[in-house]
Amino acid sequence: MSIWKRKPLEQLLNEAADSEKGLKRTLTAWSLIALGIGAIIGAGLFVRTAMAASQNAGPSVTIAFVVAAIGCALAGLCYAELSSSIPISGSAYTYTYATMGEFVAWIIGWDLILEYAVGAATVGIAWSEYLNNFLVNVVHISPIPFEFSHSPFQTDPITGVSGIINLPALFIVGIISLLLIKGIQESAFVNGIIVIVKVTIVILIIVIGWNFINPVNHTPYIPAPSVFTDEHGIDHNYGGIMGILGAAGTVFFAFIGFDAVSTAAQETKNPKRSMPIGILGSLAICTLLYILFAHVLTGVATVEDFRTGGKEASVAFAINKYMIGYSWLGQLVTVAILFGFTSVILVMLLGQSRVFYSMGKDGLLPKMFSDLHSKFKTPYKANIVIFIIVGLFAGFVPGDIVGDMTSIGTLFAFVLVCISVIILRKKEPNMTREFRTPWVPFVPILGVLVCLSMMYGLGWPNWLRLFAWMGIGVVIYFIYGRKNSVLNNPKE
Ligand code: ALA
Repeated sequence: MSIWKRKPLEQLLNEAADSEKGLKRTLTAWSLIALGIGAIIGAGLFVRTAMAASQNAGPSVTIAFVVAAIGCALAGLCYAELSSSIPISGSAYTYTYATMGEFVAWIIGWDLILEYAVGAATVGIAWSEYLNNFLVNVVHISPIPFEFSHSPFQTDPITGVSGIINLPALFIVGIISLLLIKGIQESAFVNGIIVIVKVTIVILIIVIGWNFINPVNHTPYIPAPSVFTDEHGIDHNYGGIMGILGAAGTVFFAFIGFDAVSTAAQETKNPKRSMPIGILGSLAICTLLYILFAHVLTGVATVEDFRTGGKEASVAFAINKYMIGYSWLGQLVTVAILFGFTSVILVMLLGQSRVFYSMGKDGLLPKMFSDLHSKFKTPYKANIVIFIIVGLFAGFVPGDIVGDMTSIGTLFAFVLVCISVIILRKKEPNMTREFRTPWVPFVPILGVLVCLSMMYGLGWPNWLRLFAWMGIGVVIYFIYGRKNSVLNNPKE
């Protein structure tokens, strides 16, 4: 029994070809792009842009978006090669199984829980906050009481009331889990509508807001280096190169999700062509929208506004304060943000269930994770277990604790995916590669370096959390996975 045993490529491809028994192939390149955008545009753009501008970069948050996009594009090129050659559910988990062996595959599978499950919980919690914003500012009724919309670790600073459970976060995760159990085709349809709504809103803000840009707010575009201390007493590098790098770590969250496209490989028609288009296409569209959006947002309102006024509802705040006559847009933004978060959660939960599906098939997780529903052909038991895990985080843990863990976990996955491309080129030189990452090993190595520097920017507390999480994973592998792995325990 070797923990480094690799899953033979041939076996992987046979498993995928066996789609009669497996998941249904219904997705096209366009539905993949929609899936990608659905996962990408969310809390990162609507919440973290203003946060990064106020704490780190001012208007140069646009440059931070470029830095984060470069890291994602480099990793995206690697994802595209792997998902077009190994078009199987499971994403980075599956690629590492074929390249670096079972133990590393388990590690990455365990790490992906941070990206997808913890990420879904993070956005679910943000959804809950915006629901209250919607009830108060759009519908003009009372919000859901503090104790039922916050975790037990949170206290209302004004009333002193403590949270009990975050019911709206639990609710949205539950509804979307049901949708996923019913089937990915329906989910993709609902996702498509949501994507259209939120992209339209982003474009509206860019086009209308452009006329309200005050050049004074963009001067200087890169602020002089200094230190900004936030209300919790935490120091942030503001301005200069360090400010841009710090902001890149913050807005990186906005790109998380484009790789989720690769988890749907087994449900994609013609995955070899569609995968690269889906991954790189959604990334390119979002990058363009982000840069323009950030340029407009930092031009309309001042950095001081983001530090003192808007906070989480920064975009609506900027519109209401400066774009006179467009209060309807402020309300629409709140609605679009709710929709936007919904589709992000959908793709994250989808990604998580497909990773668990693959791990269940391989015996690293109990078999029930790969059981398909007889009618819907979806891994419904995995969906139910994921709902419980994500629900626990969403209902009982504060959002800020889980947010940065999502980022560092995702960056770690990107690093391993880049390395996988180099290894697979050496170990399987003749494998059919519909899409080839250009300039290997230069592109993957650069991808590793850019992602590592963003991880560095996230600070040591997050490294500690990552190590602790991985430590738990290693223990589970040696207690369960190693003994039950199908590859390591072939039937006599
Ligand atoms: N990219 C996703 C978001 O910004 C995770 O919400």
